[in-house]
Amino acid sequence: MTASPDSTATSPASCAESASRTPPTSPSPASGGRDGAGLSTSDAGLYLMLLSIHGLIRGHDLELGRDADTGGQTKYVVELTRALAAHPRIWRVDLLTRLIDDPRVDDDYSSEQEPVAENAFITRIPCGPRRYLRKETLWTYLDGFADNALLHIRRVGRLPDVIHSHYADAGYVGARLAGLLGVPLVHTGHSLGREKKRRLLVQGMDAEEIEKTYNMSQRIEAEELAMDNAAMVIASTTQEVEKQYSVYDNYQPQSMVVIPPGVALDRFYPPRRGWFATPDPLELGRFLREPRRPMILALARPDERKNIATLLHAYGQHPRLQRAANLVLIAGIRDDISAMERGPRAVLNEILLLIDRYDLYGRVACPKHHHADDVPLLYRLAAKRGGIFVNPALTEPFGLTLIEAAASGLPIVATEDGGPRDIIAHCRNGVLIDPLDHARLGDVLYAAISNRRQWRRWAKNGVAGAHRRFSWSSHVSRYLSEVEKLMKKWRRKRPAAAPRSKLPTLTRILITDIDNTLIGDRAALQTLLERMRRHGEKLGFGVATGRRLESVARVLKEWDVPTPDVLITSVGTEIHYGKRLEPDLGYQDHLEYRWAPQALPEVLNELPGLRLQAAVEQRRFKVSFLLDPGKAPSVRVIKKQLRRHGIHATVVLSNGIYLDVIPVRASKGKAIRYIANKWGIPIDSILVAGDSGNDEEMLTGNTLGVVVGNHCEELKVLRGQERVYFARGQYALGILEGVEFYNFFDDINSIHESVG
Ligand code: GLC
Ligand code: MG
Repeated sequence: MTASPDSTATSPASCAESASRTPPTSPSPASGGRDGAGLSTSDAGLYLMLLSIHGLIRGHDLELGRDADTGGQTKYVVELTRALAAHPRIWRVDLLTRLIDDPRVDDDYSSEQEPVAENAFITRIPCGPRRYLRKETLWTYLDGFADNALLHIRRVGRLPDVIHSHYADAGYVGARLAGLLGVPLVHTGHSLGREKKRRLLVQGMDAEEIEKTYNMSQRIEAEELAMDNAAMVIASTTQEVEKQYSVYDNYQPQSMVVIPPGVALDRFYPPRRGWFATPDPLELGRFLREPRRPMILALARPDERKNIATLLHAYGQHPRLQRAANLVLIAGIRDDISAMERGPRAVLNEILLLIDRYDLYGRVACPKHHHADDVPLLYRLAAKRGGIFVNPALTEPFGLTLIEAAASGLPIVATEDGGPRDIIAHCRNGVLIDPLDHARLGDVLYAAISNRRQWRRWAKNGVAGAHRRFSWSSHVSRYLSEVEKLMKKWRRKRPAAAPRSKLPTLTRILITDIDNTLIGDRAALQTLLERMRRHGEKLGFGVATGRRLESVARVLKEWDVPTPDVLITSVGTEIHYGKRLEPDLGYQDHLEYRWAPQALPEVLNELPGLRLQAAVEQRRFKVSFLLDPGKAPSVRVIKKQLRRHGIHATVVLSNGIYLDVIPVRASKGKAIRYIANKWGIPIDSILVAGDSGNDEEMLTGNTLGVVVGNHCEELKVLRGQERVYFARGQYALGILEGVEFYNFFDDINSIHESVG
């Protein structure tokens, strides 16, 4: 049995409820340039766009270790940007990150564009508030990031050939952008939410706490989305692929490649004969009674997982080791420990207490400050003194510092885990240890320092191995050969050309949902239409609806609504233009991506409380069900069920009872962005109005969102979001109220000049 939602009534279930109002944030004036340049790829070389959103990123003096978000990844992306830019096949590299304007951090992070090479830029994109935010709190602003990134692309005047996202937040944005632009997405997770969650659970943190502190389910969902959309995933180690990515529903081993990170080897090299570190880089002499003794060097953020305490226990309980070597701990940067965040504060307190407990004064150095330029010197100094680099982290997927140490001729002792395992296998320059066994760690360090012949061999092997396997130039050549393979495949399925439309000539567009938004109040609707007529040619009108095209035509006629300039129908899976209802064929091609719905009805029929809607509601890119809220599982479980069966799709619930399953690249919101991008319409000159779940995505981000007073439960999550105005008025009255709120019809004819 199937049922059709609009066979029984003219309009689907209404969620009318008492209108409430949140203090809206004011919209910013239309911004962004339209330079009219063609967005075509050129033969000039590749244009790569890297996304790394959180943390403090700049081209010089990275503040590594300043906080949990400014670590290995920031360094990796900046160096990757430079290394790629130097390759002759590259036209331009943009590293997009969040723009931060905050007196608590340096001014550098507020500059919109920072060149890092002749053809490479750190491009800072406004995203939510201008102050510095930790990555866990960025989620609601990411749609805005994506929209602002589109403005940047228009300014460059060329589509990137590839978008490469780094970490879950960028994965979310990357999936969105790549989908809209029809370019391949490459993703690197750096560290993965499911793995982090597993570790925290093992450590005894409870699931609720994890969720609260880390916003974990959002992160994992973003990672699933990125993997679902990525044409290629780049990992640093084999173990990462096998142990960490494999637990994701969207794990696709055939599209994963392992390319180990590169190291700026021009900065990391062994001490030359007769070299002395003068002056003593961090005034280690202030800490160490016998500064000439071999140095055991550890370099890690003050993060519990870096496990520095175990190292102190190992050293503190090994008197012979204490006599043979000093211990130098470079644990981030600190001024006043008591003013630091809870995590680093606890770690630093423990370090100082352990130094005291084992009475390690004169043997352990733990400087308060260091400069990025000190680090290569430190490795060299430790190598010069016949020391060892130690990384006892609980897990180490990556191990950049180990490669730097290797390249500096400093042997390593490191946790038996993914990164170190690969490094030692390739370089044969040290030993793996169990990070929880401090007694053995002490013995291993002692042996490593004492056996001089072995030490020399390890030092030599490390330098050679690092160059062979971990230089940026070897990274970049593998990277580009993989990317070029990918692009060849991609080109074979480029979307078709677009139909003609008046859209590029418009200054503003009002795009509205139909049921329970545009229609519902005849008098208000006529007022709205009359006001629009008065604003003439430069104002566009569109609808975005769950209904199919034929039923849209019927209902608009019934309500005396003129044919819109653009019709987004069947939940954003079809786009038609103007009176002749010309279909956008490019969009159809665009949606094909990963859409294979054959098994879908059967797979979801296995779940209780779901039944297919009428046959006419089933479209090429839309499979729709009626959901019985009393019996059906949550949307999350439904998504999970699809993934388990290898079905890539977006699931949308509307009015609490309509469940639409559509391609990963489809939704009303994505259709709007597709149109905006295609026709060069700034996102923030589009006003959108809606009332239910399938409207959510078009209301967020930089569009001027209006939620009508009679909205559904599903839209409540948008309360308080920037540029989402909750109207008191119902139906078209709510739209009119939103129009007023944004002054949307004002100066409509003059804006064009200021934008153009
Ligand atoms: C419309 C469509 C239906 C869809 C619903 C929610 O009612 O006819 O198929 O499920 O919108 O998007
Ligand atoms: Mg509706």
